[in-house]
Amino acid sequence: MSRAVFAASLLLVIACAGDPSAPADGETGTGAPADTGASGSVAVSEGEGTAPTSEGETTAEPTGPTFHGDVLPLFAQHCQGCHEPGGIAPFDITDYAVAAPLSPAIAAATSARTMPPFVADNSGACRSFTHARWISDEEIDLLAAWDAAGAPEGDPTTPRPIPPAPDALVGDEIVTVTTPAGYEPVADEAGMADDYQCFVVDPGVADVARYLVGYEVVPGNPAVTHHLIGFLVDPEASTPLGGTNRTRMEALDAESPDQPGWDCYGAAGDGVLPEGTPVTWAPGGGAFNFPVGTGIRVDPGYVLVLQMHYNLAVGGGADATDLRLSMADEVEREAVNALNDRFLATLFNGTTVKIPAGESEFQWTWSERIGDWDDRISGWNGVQLLGMLPHMHGLGRRMEVELIQGDQRSCAIYVDRWDFNWQQAFMYAEPINVMPGDELQVTCEWDASARDRDTYPGLGTGDEMCLLGIYAAELP
Ligand code: HEC
Repeated sequence: MSRAVFAASLLLVIACAGDPSAPADGETGTGAPADTGASGSVAVSEGEGTAPTSEGETTAEPTGPTFHGDVLPLFAQHCQGCHEPGGIAPFDITDYAVAAPLSPAIAAATSARTMPPFVADNSGACRSFTHARWISDEEIDLLAAWDAAGAPEGDPTTPRPIPPAPDALVGDEIVTVTTPAGYEPVADEAGMADDYQCFVVDPGVADVARYLVGYEVVPGNPAVTHHLIGFLVDPEASTPLGGTNRTRMEALDAESPDQPGWDCYGAAGDGVLPEGTPVTWAPGGGAFNFPVGTGIRVDPGYVLVLQMHYNLAVGGGADATDLRLSMADEVEREAVNALNDRFLATLFNGTTVKIPAGESEFQWTWSERIGDWDDRISGWNGVQLLGMLPHMHGLGRRMEVELIQGDQRSCAIYVDRWDFNWQQAFMYAEPINVMPGDELQVTCEWDASARDRDTYPGLGTGDEMCLLGIYAAELP
């Protein structure tokens, strides 16, 4: 649907939220894509297992992976960005005394692929992505073997591995915006450790449109900064609650005079209508540069609403996070970032879908022509799909997106362990060339087994979404 239609659907969410009309029969989708197959062989260096043996013994030394020889280099590459002192994660994985007793948890979390956190399948069975926090089957096997061997230390004098240098931000003009200094996160709900707070920042685009070609996030207090989503908002666009985004944001901000910003969960705040999510960030990554020659248009006067997700499980205290925006006056090809949610749209077309209370695997499928995501795309001769932003709320479990080109179907993105806390955009390692008339089919699956009431589409914490944002540029 076009930006205007998405905005209209959000308007109607507000209008309909109190009065969910009769449910429509939810079309149900099919199962998961084919299994990725068997894992490869265990890649461990032989002979490094130097567990202490008593003097004079001639028994062969145990072989297998050790912490210093095999495991720490893997941790430095894939875990240290979060699991180090002052980071967002709960323990320092580079300290043997800390990591060894946790080897069963490490083996379990990596084999379940809940760690490192990355909710999209990057095995190659359904595309692959840049900046993928994804370890190989061999690396998972190595951690399992290390755990099975009793987490041997190996030689502590082995030189410590150096974590990879993060990607640098490319561009001539970097505009730095910062969340309000001194904001101290407080849990949104008693007993929980999460705070979702929105702040508005100004990228300083005055008279003529400019383009966002890359960004980098520098958290002020990394121990509490879990993720960040930057919504592009036209302050002068009108909203359902009367007035404009600007007056709506001012009203939200005024609800808590003692602190800057406002509470927000599903998007940029109740009644604020975003046009896209050009910025998505989680810890541990470096800068993100859009594919060379492309950038996302920022019209004069537009602002970014930054949804900060703070988590207080490990740290606390105030934060002021820098967002460094790489801006350009022109780009070869404008990249369009457009949002679409036909599940949300059922709220206003008289076919409201509900997720029945107690249902553990409720699925719903919708599809739409790629050109209908945004009016600009519909006019292109060919489309390059650069990336995807899947989005559901807390009941979401899986999302499968299929690309339908004539009678051919292929997997576009497969999220098989949705976690609201680790949402992000996924950019293709190899962009996909399509036509505006090709379709994307989206299947969402939710688990409402713990809910004793039906769940409706909407933007609130207790509502659900089945949104797919796309990043696309015209074929060169
Ligand atoms: C992007 C940041 C990030 C990266 C990278 C990361 N972790 Fe974590 N890890 C966390 C956070 C945050 C938690 C706390 C629980 C949560 O929020 O999911 C956690 C929790 C854990 C836990 C506790 C059990 C669990 O599953 O919650 C284990 C074990 C773990 N991580 C292992 C690893 C290993 C091994 C790697 C690298 C192969 C890794 N993590 C990479 C952020 C990260």
